[in-house]
Amino acid sequence: MPAEPPEMQPSERSDPTMIQSRTTVSPSCAGMASWTDRLGEVWAVHQPRFDRMLARYNGAFLAMTGISRTDQVLDIGCGTGTLTRAAAELAPSGRVLGIDLSPAVLAVARKHTRRQSNVSYLQADAESYPLRAQAYQAIISRFGTMYFRQPATAFHRIGQALQDAGQLTMLVWQTRDRNEWVRVIDDSLGPRASHMFGWTDDGTGGPEVIDDLLANAGFDRIAFTDVRQPLFLGVDAEEADMFVRAVVSRDPHDRRQQDELRAALTARQLVSGGVLLNSAAWLVTARKA
Ligand SMILES: C[S@@+](CC[C@H](N)C(=O)[O-])C[C@H]1O[C@@H](n2cnc3c(N)ncnc32)[C@H](O)[C@@H]1O
Repeated sequence: MPAEPPEMQPSERSDPTMIQSRTTVSPSCAGMASWTDRLGEVWAVHQPRFDRMLARYNGAFLAMTGISRTDQVLDIGCGTGTLTRAAAELAPSGRVLGIDLSPAVLAVARKHTRRQSNVSYLQADAESYPLRAQAYQAIISRFGTMYFRQPATAFHRIGQALQDAGQLTMLVWQTRDRNEWVRVIDDSLGPRASHMFGWTDDGTGGPEVIDDLLANAGFDRIAFTDVRQPLFLGVDAEEADMFVRAVVSRDPHDRRQQDELRAALTARQLVSGGVLLNSAAWLVTARKA
C-alpha cells in the first residue's frame, strides 16, 4: 500500500469539497463532469494507449520541471500516475503526491506504484482541496489543469501550496485550430472531443488567457514553450477508429459520422508508423511572485 499523504488528516477525509459534485458543473463545462465517472473509467481502461499517445511530450516536460533529489512534488490531475512516478524517480529522497478526481484512474495508478515508497495518491478536487501552504518545491501537471470550473481560484490555491522558490510546470493544449487530432474528431462527430478535453470557444489554450490567470494568482516569470508533437492513435485506421470510438461518445446509428471519421483517419495513416495526428501544447512554467 502506498503511504498515506502526510497532509491528509482524518478530518479532511470527510471534507465535502474533496470530491467534485456533478451538480455544480455548468453546462459549458459538461466535459468536466465525467472525470469522476465515464471519462475517468475510459482513461483508466485505455491507460497504455493514452500514455503512448502522449509519450513524446514527456522528455521536454520532465526536463523543464527542474525537480531535484529531495523535492516535495505535487502532480495535479495525475491520472494513472505515469508522470507522478517519473517525478518520483527524479526525487528519490523526496516525496510525490498525485491528486485526481477519478477513483478509476487512481486505482490504476496505485497498482503501478507498488514499488515506489515515495509516491502517494489522493482522490480530491485540486480546485477546492485545502492543500498545505508552502508545501511543495515543484507542482507539475500533464494536461490535468484544463478542467477547473473556477481556474482563478484553483490557481490561487495552487500558488499558495508552492514554496517561495518553487516552480509550477504544466502542459496544456494550445487552441483547437492548432490541434489536428481534435479537429479531425470534431469535424466528423461534432464538437465532442473539444468539449471532452477542455476547450471552449472563448480562447481556452491561448497564452494570453493563461498568462493573465497565473499573474492574477500571484505567479511571475511565466514562460511558454511551444511544443508540437504527433499523437499516435493506432497502428492503422481501424485501430485508431476503435480507440476514438471507445473514448468519444457518438451516435452509433449515424453512419455518416462513422464513415467520415474512418475516412479522415485513413487519410492520415502512414505506410509505417501508424495513424499520427498533429498536436500542439504549451509547456508553461511559472514561479511564485
Ligand atoms: C487529460 S487527463 C491527464 C492525466 C495525467 N496527468 C496524464 O497525463 O496521464 C486529466 C486528468 O485530470 C483530472 N482532473 C480534472 N479536473 C480535476 C480536478 N479539479 N482535480 C483533480 N483532478 C482533476 C482527471 O480526473 C484526469 O485524470
